[in-house]
Amino acid sequence: MCGIVAYLGEKEAQPLLLDGLRRLEYRGYDSSGIATLDHGVLKIAKKKGHVQALATHLSSTPIGGKIGISHTRWATHGAASDANAHPHTDQSGRLAIVHNGVVENYLALKHRLTALGHTFKSETDTEILAHLIGHYYDACNEPDRLLKAVRAALREVSGTYGIAVLHQDHPGLLVGARRGSPLLIGIAKDGHFFTSDVMAIGGHAGQVIELKDGDIATITADTHAVTTIDGGDADFIVKQVEASEAISELGSFPHYMLKEVFDQPQALRDAFRGRLDREASTVKLGGLRMTSEELRRIERIVIVGCGTARHSGLVGEYLIETLANLPVEVEYASEFRYRNTPMDPRTLVFAVSQSGETLDTLGALREAQRKGYRALGICNRVGSTMPRESDGGVYMHAGPEIGVAATKSFTSQVMIFTLIALLLGRMRYLSAAQGQELIDGIEALPGLVEKLLAQNDAIKKVAEKYHKVRSMIFLGRLHHVPVAMEGALKMKEITYINAEGYPAAELKHGIIALIDEETPTVLICPKDSVYDKNASTLQEIKARKGPVIAVATEGDTQIGTLADDVLYIPDAPEILQPILASIPLQLFAYHCAVLLGRDVDKPRNLAKSVTVE
Ligand code: F6R
Repeated sequence: MCGIVAYLGEKEAQPLLLDGLRRLEYRGYDSSGIATLDHGVLKIAKKKGHVQALATHLSSTPIGGKIGISHTRWATHGAASDANAHPHTDQSGRLAIVHNGVVENYLALKHRLTALGHTFKSETDTEILAHLIGHYYDACNEPDRLLKAVRAALREVSGTYGIAVLHQDHPGLLVGARRGSPLLIGIAKDGHFFTSDVMAIGGHAGQVIELKDGDIATITADTHAVTTIDGGDADFIVKQVEASEAISELGSFPHYMLKEVFDQPQALRDAFRGRLDREASTVKLGGLRMTSEELRRIERIVIVGCGTARHSGLVGEYLIETLANLPVEVEYASEFRYRNTPMDPRTLVFAVSQSGETLDTLGALREAQRKGYRALGICNRVGSTMPRESDGGVYMHAGPEIGVAATKSFTSQVMIFTLIALLLGRMRYLSAAQGQELIDGIEALPGLVEKLLAQNDAIKKVAEKYHKVRSMIFLGRLHHVPVAMEGALKMKEITYINAEGYPAAELKHGIIALIDEETPTVLICPKDSVYDKNASTLQEIKARKGPVIAVATEGDTQIGTLADDVLYIPDAPEILQPILASIPLQLFAYHCAVLLGRDVDKPRNLAKSVTVE
C-alpha cells in the first residue's frame, strides 16, 4: 500500500525514481510525485492519477538532480488529488518527505503545530509529520540535525510509517525510518536507495538491507548507517537481491492478472518442489522449525489472514480437518488481533499472507505471539516482515504477484495447506497408501491446470454472455464454499459487479429471494461426494428461471443438460479439486472485467498490499 523510492548517487534521479514508481504502482495508484534537489533547490512534481500522469508532466517539465524521493499513493487521509499527493513539505519549504502508513495522532499534532503558527496545504497526516520534523530541525544546531529532527519527531508519532526525508540544506543525505511499514536500503555501484519494495530497485541495486521496525537510517552516495529511533545501535544484514525479487515481466500477456493465472502450473510446482517425501509418503517442511514430536502434540490450529488469503485458510481448514482430524478455526486477522479468542497451549497459529506485510495479519501474528503461541507464516514475499517475525513457516515460492487481484497466490496457499495437512495427517491417521495417493495427485496437478488453461477461449465466450449483469451469486459445498467466496471476490473487485459466495445449501435460507432471470448463479458442482446435493440446488435455481453457470467435471453430460453454461475442470481426487475449481472463476472474472473496460490490474480504490488498518 503506497510505494516509496528514493535515490542518491552519481546518476540523474528522475528516471530512476520514475522507473521505480512504475514498478511499485500496483501498491497504490491514486497519485504520485517526486522531489529532487535541482541545482541545490528543492523541486517537486506531483500528479493525481496513475504514474503515467506524472511521467507525462515530467516529460515536458523535467526536474534534475542526483538526489530525490518519490511516492505512489493509496489515499488514507484526504482524497486523491495533486495537493494530497506526496512528497509533502514542512513550513520552511526546504524539507520534503514521502510516507507510507498512518500517523494516528495527526490531529493532536496538527493542533499543536497550528498554535505555533504552522499552516498546511493538504489534508494529509504526512504533511503534519513533515512540519513536525521541520519544527525539530529549526530547534537544533548540531551537524546531524536532520537525523536528530527525524528521530525527535518520530518519537511523538503513534501509528505506522516507512519514510524517506530530503532537505535542501543537506544535498548529500537522505534519512529513512520504519515502523509497521516496510523500508529497505538498496546498495548500488553508483549510489544508494531507500525503497518500500525491492522490486522497485531490481536491476539497479545488487544488495539490500531490510530495516526493522524502530530503525532509522541515513544514506549518502557511498555510505549507509543504521541506528534505532531511540538512539541505540541497530544490527543489520546486507543481502544479495534475488533474481526472483526483480521486476516481473509481462511478456506477451495484456495484463499481469492473466499472466499470473497462466503462471499457476509453475507456481504450484514451485510450491511442492523438494518437499514431497515419497519414501515416507509424507512431506518435509523444514521452515516450520518444529520437531515431529512438537507437531504431534498440536491439538488445535488457528489460521489468520485477510481477503483471498483468508479464503485459502478456509480451504486449509477443510484439508487439515479431513486429513489430520485436527480442529481448525479460521479468523479474520483484523478481528483476531482485537478479540479475546480462547486458545490453549497446544494451539498452533498460521498467518497467511502473499505480501507478508498486511498490517491486520501482522497484528494478528504479533498478538498470537504476545499470548505465547507459536505463530508460523505462509508467505510469498521472501524477506518480508511476517517471515522475519514469525516462529517459522513455509514460503510459497509463487514469484512476484503484481495484479492487484490475487490469483496464483491463492492456489499456492492452498497447495501449502495441502502439504501441511498431509504432513500432519501422516503423523496421525493417514496410511502410507493414502499418503502416496495424495502425493501422486499433487504431482499431477500442474499438468491438469495446464489442460484447464487451454479452455481460456471457451471461458471468455461465457463471459461475453454474462458480463453486463448487475449481480451474481456463487455457490459451492464443503471445500468449494471458500472457492465460491473467492470466485465472488475476484468478480466484484475487478468488474465491480455485485457478487457474493455462499454454501450452496444456504440458498434456501434467504438467498433464493435474489434468484431471477437477470441474476446468474455460478455453481461449483464437480463430481464429488456432494454431487447429487448440488444437482438438486441447480434444479431449485432453474425452477425459478435463474441462469446457472456450472463448474463441472469434464465428461459430465448430465450437468450440461441442466445448466445454461458449463466451465469444465479435469477430474482429480476430491481433496485437490479446490485448486482446479478456482481457476475458471479467475478467468471468468478476468474476461468479464476486460469486456467491461475495467482497469484489471489496478481496480479502483484497491492496492496490492494493505499496510494500514
Ligand atoms: C484479493 C486480494 C486481497 C488480499 C488481502 C491480503 O484479490 O488480493 O483480498 O488477499 O489484502 O493480502 P496478503 O495476502 O498480501 O496478506
